[in-house]
Amino acid sequence: MSQRKDDRLWGGRFQNAPDKHFDAFQRSLAFDRRLLPYEIAVDRAWAKALQGVGIFTETEVRQTLAALDKIAARATTDKAWIDSSTAEDVHQFVENALVEELGPLGWKLHTGRSRNELVATDFRLFVIDASADIRKALLALLNAFLLQARANLKLPMAGMTHMQHAQPILLSHFLMAHAEAFSRDLSRLQNAAASADACPMGSGALAGCSFPVDRNAIAGDLGFSKITPNSLDAVSDRDFALDYLFALSGIATHLSRLAEDFVVFASQEFSYVILPDEYSTGSSLMPQKKNPDSWELLRGKTGRITATLFSLLTTMKGLPTSYQRDLQEDKEALFAAHDQMEEMLWVARGALSAAKFRADRLGAIVSNPALLATDAADYLVHRGVPFRQAHDLVGKLLREAENQGKSWTQLPLADIRKISPLFREDFLPGLSVENAISSKAVPGGTSESSVRAAIAQLEQKLNQMENQP
Ligand code: ARG
Repeated sequence: MSQRKDDRLWGGRFQNAPDKHFDAFQRSLAFDRRLLPYEIAVDRAWAKALQGVGIFTETEVRQTLAALDKIAARATTDKAWIDSSTAEDVHQFVENALVEELGPLGWKLHTGRSRNELVATDFRLFVIDASADIRKALLALLNAFLLQARANLKLPMAGMTHMQHAQPILLSHFLMAHAEAFSRDLSRLQNAAASADACPMGSGALAGCSFPVDRNAIAGDLGFSKITPNSLDAVSDRDFALDYLFALSGIATHLSRLAEDFVVFASQEFSYVILPDEYSTGSSLMPQKKNPDSWELLRGKTGRITATLFSLLTTMKGLPTSYQRDLQEDKEALFAAHDQMEEMLWVARGALSAAKFRADRLGAIVSNPALLATDAADYLVHRGVPFRQAHDLVGKLLREAENQGKSWTQLPLADIRKISPLFREDFLPGLSVENAISSKAVPGGTSESSVRAAIAQLEQKLNQMENQP
């Protein structure tokens, strides 16, 4: 077999060398090198598949697999090896290395296959592993929520809507609200991994493979549960990457909302939480400052995660059927979003675990009697008054208290009864933060028993998930 002179994978029909700027522009090794372990796994499966159709002899497969092992080992120990490579992408890098090891036999592995299906397969495998990594970090964050919810189970706080005092709730209920949101992200991650779980190998460049390779065996070898059903679709489908970025965007959005709550809670006006030194920074100018930078950065970094989703959606929009080089734009930003998300989750877990809540401040704010106005209306409802009317009567009560310049819970009963004789001696003593909270005993409510049940339910879900592979 004669040696090939051109080291490009496709140089045969080209007379001129590529323009330098364009050449640098089109290369992807700098980022797709991250796919190397997957590329090698796919190569192994493909070598066996080619033996199945008589292209490789048993000896050739053995030699090829041994060479792939060697390449994998060298790539992990000798980092400078890839740095110094002139290969265009990870696919050419491995092929060059194979040829270096095996001579012309190294070129044989590309029989019947295309980089279009290789990159789709490698990337799917990456997304499956990436989902598992993020799931792990997310489970750790959820466990931190459970610990904080248990530690602060009975602590009342002022629940707010529109950032205005609304009704008393338990801090544990507030924490579990965030935890519920993150637990939905677990399902989104699972969806992303499921949509990546189909093997494109055998799709060729676009039309399928003219050698009758056993596609199901290749898929099984690589840990896929099925094969992709259409070769044209398989080389250009990036829905799995979009699903993954959507899952990350969900997590980032939830992190940003959690972060916002913590930033507000750490303000002097609220002082609900003591920021841990380990997750805060100071000011170079103002000596008194301790800033919630961990939460602010979490809130801020959400932008680049959601931007990555929009970036890939935009790349995909209007692409013609089958592979287009635009698709090379799918990887770099997704890798970055994945790395960032992993960091974000570990920082969020640390900052949440180390946060100390101030029972004195939470208690002082929740003791505002205005928070019990709805419970006062409910009192009248229990005595047969239609709610709308009860709402109105309590409104009058509040106005009367305002006129007298005192809190409505300090009004003399006689004045209260002038508004409605249905208010009795048991009215004021029955109004308390504790009663307001314990009366919300429906599933999903803020009563201690409801929150305990919610914690137990999430614990059970996490235990099940932790035991899944
Ligand atoms: N580097 C390419 C990518 O990331 C690999 C496939 C290239 N295929 C091609 N026909 N140029 O998508």
